[in-house]
Amino acid sequence: MTDQSVGIDAIEIHTGKLKLDLAETFAPKMGDDPGKYTKGLGLYASSFPDTYEDIVTMGANAAHRLMDRKGLEPEDIGRIDVATESAFDHSKPVSTYIAGCLEQVYEGDFHHANKGERKFACVAGTQSIDDAYNWIRAGRHRGRAALVIATDTALYARDDPGEATQGAGAVAMLIDEDPDLVELSNAQGYGSADETDFLKPQQQFPSVDGKRSVKVYLARMREALVDYESVAGDIHPDDFRLGPFHTPFPGMVRKAAVLAYRHITRDTEIEDDLDDQIGRQPRPEAFDDDAAYMDALGDYTDKLKDTDRYQEWYDRTIDPTLSISREVGNWYTGSVHVARVSGLKALAEDGEDATGQKLLVGSYGSGAQAEIHVETVQENWLDEIDALNVDEQLEARYDLDFDEYEDVHDAHNFDEERGVEEFRTPDEEFVFDGWGRMGERKYQYVE
Ligand code: CAA
Repeated sequence: MTDQSVGIDAIEIHTGKLKLDLAETFAPKMGDDPGKYTKGLGLYASSFPDTYEDIVTMGANAAHRLMDRKGLEPEDIGRIDVATESAFDHSKPVSTYIAGCLEQVYEGDFHHANKGERKFACVAGTQSIDDAYNWIRAGRHRGRAALVIATDTALYARDDPGEATQGAGAVAMLIDEDPDLVELSNAQGYGSADETDFLKPQQQFPSVDGKRSVKVYLARMREALVDYESVAGDIHPDDFRLGPFHTPFPGMVRKAAVLAYRHITRDTEIEDDLDDQIGRQPRPEAFDDDAAYMDALGDYTDKLKDTDRYQEWYDRTIDPTLSISREVGNWYTGSVHVARVSGLKALAEDGEDATGQKLLVGSYGSGAQAEIHVETVQENWLDEIDALNVDEQLEARYDLDFDEYEDVHDAHNFDEERGVEEFRTPDEEFVFDGWGRMGERKYQYVE
């Protein structure tokens, strides 16, 4: 094994240009207490695509900004992988549409670039990063970098409980040698099983068993953590400055974080220090049956969650990763990558020098698979984070009223024929521009 450093060199985010306020606009119409959204799920708003936006335009706009900012030409990119669970074509990958868009604004082309589409629900973005990492470390990249684009319109059927957690946006990431933002660990852990919790069998909106999906997330994430430790050794809460996790809604990460903390504090001085206050963690050998052990574990976890020690760790390590998610909802494949940006952005805003700090990154996709790896923050991270304009984008979103929300949902429903006027005027960006003769979606760059 070499000590070649490979990781994420740069990130750009593109949010859908519309916003649905969950507490003010959605909750009253659904007959819900706004606290269900703001406190329970931890969400304030969802991002939605304008009528001329989709997974291609959002991905292409994020990638264009990234390439411009880093001074890249098509010649510098040897691979374009798109991760999505919102694809509209079973054969032609979304990366070809995005490359076609980018070729409208650059002189060169991407004919030399290997393009593909990754599918495993929300974990596919991280899998695409893996593919790029392996490609570079195998020495097949000929000095070029890889573009990984995680793009989704995470819409649910109307009146599905998941409607509360919708979102839309894209994250473009440049994977390269000697990265400016974070280096990826070679070690990884997996938790993977055939699960029927969230799926889209030939349908646009998912079939979801929401309560079960929460349990499966926790089970697979735990497996991945144990698997990671089997490769990298036991980990300790103080090893990590941030823990960006897949965030379908912040309340999900709140549930996962306390379980992870319980696991990684077992047999540490933290368990000893908390002994007087809440006792020691239950061990299975002390119980006659599983149910009694699980009850005792649940009681311990409830007490652990209320300790100052845990709260301080949560506030420092997890909470900063949730701030963008609260305002945009679930971006499926992009979600864990938004969590990484949120966390680093919070450190930048606090004036902290994060160089050399470690991130414990937990990705997850329904169906189901979790992956855990570690990232090391690189020297130029602050320039990369300072270059983002995510706050401006969030601020500029059009605030939908409920009737407009219903129209926009219909406009993005493949089964509905609805001509809905655009809400924001496109400006220097790629837009959806109708259908071609073979049923393909067409795009153009608007000056
Ligand atoms: N004040 C404070 N909290 C309140 C409240 C109030 N007034 N009203 C409700 N709450 C709390 C509830 O107690 C609950 O919290 P806990 O789970 O901690 O008890 C929370 O708000 C949500 O309320 P409900 O459980 O009643 O909400 P629901 O049943 O309508 O829907 C859901 C919740 C099942 C997660 C649903 O949003 C859903 O199906 N989402 C889509 C699936 C999903 O995101 N699953 C996550 C794991 S799978 C994954 O991660 C992949 C992916 O991206 C999809």
